[in-house]
Amino acid sequence: MSNENTQEVLNQTVADLFKASVLVHQVHWYMRGAGFLTLHPKMDELKDQLDEALDEFAERLITIGGSPLSTLAEYEATSKIKMTTAKWGKSNAERLQEILTAYKYLAEVFKKGIKVADEDGDDVTVDLFTTALGDIEKTIWMLDAELA
Ligand SMILES: [Fe+2]
Repeated sequence: MSNENTQEVLNQTVADLFKASVLVHQVHWYMRGAGFLTLHPKMDELKDQLDEALDEFAERLITIGGSPLSTLAEYEATSKIKMTTAKWGKSNAERLQEILTAYKYLAEVFKKGIKVADEDGDDVTVDLFTTALGDIEKTIWMLDAELA
């Protein structure tokens, strides 16, 4: 059975997770103000989770015969997570909102991944996307709670 669609959604995921990690790193560096002492290390934790997921999805893609995107130019062209040059003066809430928006988008990519991999009969990839979706939904809940 052809798995081109699964390969494509895996590469979309790879590009988006890379970009999300860069975004979280930007927030880690640029945040200031109330909450810094807890939020600054929290960003490290989120970045580690994204980097781990990135590696898992890329290696799954290789396992099923694909080739993960691996250059900055490919990530920039493929990811739908857009970033701007960092500026001081944004509130921590505004920065967390940027992460929340990216995470909600990632959740949609993971949902698509579940559907596409299921259509290709790839249960392992379905499982990978399902676990990633559960993890990110939990983080979305926590970010929502922080911003409430
Ligand atoms: Fe740091």
